[in-house]
Amino acid sequence: MDLDRIDPRRIPVHIACVMDGNGRWAQKRGLPRTEGHAAGEEALFDAVEGALELGVRWLTVYAFSTENWKRPVDEVRYLMGFNERLLTNRRDELHQKGVRVRFAGRRDWRVPKRVLKRMDEAVELTERNRRMTLTFAFNYGGRAEIVDAVRALVAEGTPAERIDEKAIHSRLYHPDMPDPDLVVRTSGEFRISNFLLWELAYSELVFTDVLWPDFRREHLFEAVREFQRRDRRFGGVEL
Ligand code: IPE
Ligand code: IPE
Ligand code: MG
Repeated sequence: MDLDRIDPRRIPVHIACVMDGNGRWAQKRGLPRTEGHAAGEEALFDAVEGALELGVRWLTVYAFSTENWKRPVDEVRYLMGFNERLLTNRRDELHQKGVRVRFAGRRDWRVPKRVLKRMDEAVELTERNRRMTLTFAFNYGGRAEIVDAVRALVAEGTPAERIDEKAIHSRLYHPDMPDPDLVVRTSGEFRISNFLLWELAYSELVFTDVLWPDFRREHLFEAVREFQRRDRRFGGVEL
């Protein structure tokens, strides 16, 4: 694989992907949108392989947003079943590769029980793996996550003066997850769409026109090369 021109000492610790463009990929081929979601599975697992090759420790993928419930019921139903099947079919493979599977998002009544069950099984099976943590942002919204964190603090009786950045961070869905160094969004859209709003305050953003079902590890490597050309200042100055 083409890992040259990637500096192994500056691999992003955490990469987050907005897997977008499935519907347009299908439409271009005269297929129903759901075929695009199905084709996205291969892209996801190639990206996982690529991330493992690079030695990335955390990979987070946006699988279903809190706004995606607005889609036609058939598409929503398809996506729920698709994620359930994906977890059943792929969990052993992920486990063998040393990947820890996790989820970030709301476990509300709209997520079918069967899906929640598969999620819990995958988490339990892989929870001791440490090679890489693959987090599925599922029924995830960045604003919802911040609301949930603040609610938790208030419910615990945290006094106003104790509500600071550290406190909010401690009540996010996965406080041990480092902030993404790099966010990759496919399909030529230049927006965040409510993904990891708190966590990506200082992330480097890379956008590509590739539609998610066409995404492969080479595109991930290219995004990492772009990341390595960036100058991260975190609000400071170069000395
Ligand atoms: C991303 O692809 C997958 C999900 C949001 C679940 P889309 O379904 O958004 O594809 P486009 O953006 O309509 O092409
Ligand atoms: C973001 O993509 C959500 C996921 C990839 C799961 P969308 O397709 O839902 O975002 P918008 O509607 O283009 O902003
Ligand atoms: Mg989209």
